[in-house]
Order: sequence, then structure tokens, then C-alpha cells
Amino acid sequence: MAQLAILGGKPIRTKLFPAYNTITKKEEEAALAVLRSGNLSQFIGDWCDDFFGGPKVREFETAWSQKFQARHTVSVNSATSGLIAAIGAAGIGPGDEVIVSPYTMSASASCAFAYGAVPVFADIQEDIFTLDPASIEEKITPQSKAIVVVHIFGHPADMDPILALARRHQLTVIEDCAQAPLATYKGRPVGTLGDMGIFSLNYHKHIHTGEGGMITTNDDALAERLCLIRNHGEVAIDSLPHLHDLTNLWGQNYRLTELQCAIGIEQLKRLDGYLAQRINNCGYLAQQLAKLPGILPPVEYADCRHVYYVQPYKFRQELVGVPRNLFVQAVAAELPSAYLRETTGKLIGAGYVKPLYLQRIYQEKTVSRCSFNCPRYQGKTSYAKGLCPVTERMHEEELFTHEYMRPPMDKTDLDDVVRAFEKVYEHRHTLLAP
Ligand SMILES: Cc1ncc(COP(=O)(O)O)c(C=O)c1O
Repeated sequence: MAQLAILGGKPIRTKLFPAYNTITKKEEEAALAVLRSGNLSQFIGDWCDDFFGGPKVREFETAWSQKFQARHTVSVNSATSGLIAAIGAAGIGPGDEVIVSPYTMSASASCAFAYGAVPVFADIQEDIFTLDPASIEEKITPQSKAIVVVHIFGHPADMDPILALARRHQLTVIEDCAQAPLATYKGRPVGTLGDMGIFSLNYHKHIHTGEGGMITTNDDALAERLCLIRNHGEVAIDSLPHLHDLTNLWGQNYRLTELQCAIGIEQLKRLDGYLAQRINNCGYLAQQLAKLPGILPPVEYADCRHVYYVQPYKFRQELVGVPRNLFVQAVAAELPSAYLRETTGKLIGAGYVKPLYLQRIYQEKTVSRCSFNCPRYQGKTSYAKGLCPVTERMHEEELFTHEYMRPPMDKTDLDDVVRAFEKVYEHRHTLLAP
């Protein structure tokens, strides 16, 4: 009988998986042309044409707007900067609350701190792991100003009921699309369903520029405010007499460089191809792994497109007969890491991030002098364990995610993943042996 690798047996595969690398000769040539021009960034923090950046910045933003069906795109140096800029552009400040999922990358929530606001956590839906409209409604208070909706793992949140709530309570909707470029909801790409959409171009994403971010909006006034926040807005305001509300319009430096935008232009041309590979790979894995009772592939709503930043599965311990963490560790032990990620470990993990409100900064409420402790803050949001029971159950018991779908993983690689699952499944009871 084959012994599981976690118990000392021979793993299914030791040869590293191929490196995740979306950069090709095209990016190399585009970057070289910018380097040779000597113009690595044309931004000027003063009111003139170059306040909006150089030719590559503009070309990339225009191409992004076309692809994502947006009236405006504002490039920034990360999605984190983009989220902060969106909070600023929405005019949010001390005393205000921002409703957000706790099951997301930390910046989706911590962006509120930048302007002295308070993150308030609503629970997630257990089928697609995005904000649950019913839970959002319970969390709305007179202090609520915005909802940060995260299209987590690449599946769009259920936007219609969320947008209806937002309209009724006059809340700004910020879509965190970092994990979901060209995911669609009822035929429309995410990013302009709400007021502003933020995309990430960090190295781990579907396409990347090393670091970077893009903000989409159909609102002219918000686009103008975002450009001011991106680039030292205070220097431009004297030249913009039509601006009446100057709240938050002192600027940062969130500028993306010519070099990164030149790379981004080339990356964007191949986004459709990379998405197709991810979707095909995930389809194959889901089909194979669904044969194992208790391993549940992700749900995709009709009228939606999942773009699989990671592929989330649910695990039913009552059907599999062993705890999720043990099972996932056993699968991980059968498989290697990938080139370029040799030191960062496995491409599969139990749960996702710890529910954000359980981080020390929320538990101790000391992260910001303003926010929670601001005299203008009249709310009483809680960060107690048990606050979002679905999130906690997904994290502690039911969810696992993997990245084995990333290009250029091919059928041979995927078959090794399937064999690892099958082997662990077949011998799972040996995991429990005393
Ligand atoms: C959902 C989500 N939001 C925001 C971010 C922040 O992106 P960036 O690294 O570009 O700041 C990430 C990055 O992983 C993310 O996954």
C-alpha cells in the first residue's frame, strides 16, 4: 500500500512546478524602449499637462478604460494606494464607518484608517465568500458612509442587492477588484458596477507590473478627485476654482511610472489569454476533484464569470472523515512548490487569511489615534470573536484554496495535483492512525 508523503512515504511529485511568470519578450522590449528614452516618469507635482503623467501612463489608462468599459481609469502605484485614494475621494473622514468583509486582504479594510474612519465588518455568503447583503444591512448605522465590496478569489459579489442598499442609504460603493480583473456580473465587468473599482498589478496577480494598481470610475468628479489625491492635489487646487468641496484633496504620491505602464500595456493585451488558461485549468480540476465525496468545487453564479485568482473549495469533514487541515497538509506534502517560489512554500492552504477583526490592530484598537478613539466617532462597532460566524466557519473548518491553476501549469502538472488528492483521499484514514 502506498504510504502518504506526510507519513514518510514517497511524494507524488518532487520536481518543482513551473514558475509563475507572465513577463515575455514584449514586456522586455517595451521596458527597454522606455529605459532608452530616459523618461522613466513624466509626472510633475504642479498644475500643468504632466500633472496627469506621461505618454505611457495615459496610453495604459486609456487601454484599461476600453477593456474594462470604464469612462475613466486612474493608475496608481498599488491597489492599497488605490483603496486609500478611493476612501479619500469619497470624502470619508473621522466619525465615519466603512462596511467591509473580514475575509479579504488586510488593505480592503485598513484603507479606512488613512482618513480616520472605522472599518465595520459584515459577514460573507457561504457559497461565494463575498459580502452578504443581509449582513451589510444589519451593520448600517447613521455613521456608515461606504461599502468596500471585495470580489474575493475572482468571483463577483452579488452586486444588485448591495447596490440597492447603497442607494437607499446613500453609501459610496468601492469595489475591491484586486483578485477579479474581467470577472463579470450579469455581463458587465466588475469595477464600474459601484462608484469606483480598484485593481491590483502586484506580482501575484493575473497580470502585473511588479507593483501597481488601477482605479476605474464612470464618475467625472470622482476621477478628478482621484487624480488630485494621486499627485499632490494641494498644488493644483488653486487652479481649479470649480472645486467646492476640498475635503481630503491634499495629495499623496501614488504615481505609477512610465516603465511600469509600458509593461502594463503589454500585459493587458494578454489578459484574456491568461484568464482562459486559469478558467480551463480550474474547470478540469473541479471536474476531477468533484469525484471525491466531501470535496466541493466552487460555485459560479449564472450570469457571472469567475476568474480564479485562487480556486476555493469547501471541505465536508463529515463526509471525508478526517479534519480539513490534516487533509490539506497531506496533499501539500505530496506536491512541490514552484520555481521562483521555492522559499515561499506550498500552493495550497487551509482557509484563507485570519478574519481581519481578529488581527491585533482591531483587538487592541490602538492602530490609529483617530478612527475608533476619535471624539467624533459615535458608533460602537465590535471586533469580538464570533462577530462573523460564516467567515469564521469557512476559515476554521470548511474552506481551502489553491493556486495550481496558474499559467503555465499544463495538463501533466494538473494530473499530478489530481493524483495527489486521490492518493490522500484513498489513504486518508491512515492520517488518523495512532
Ligand atoms: C483583495 C485585495 N485587495 C487589495 C490588495 C492590495 O493590493 P496591492 O498589493 O496592489 O496593494 C490585494 C493584494 O493581494 C488583494 O488581494
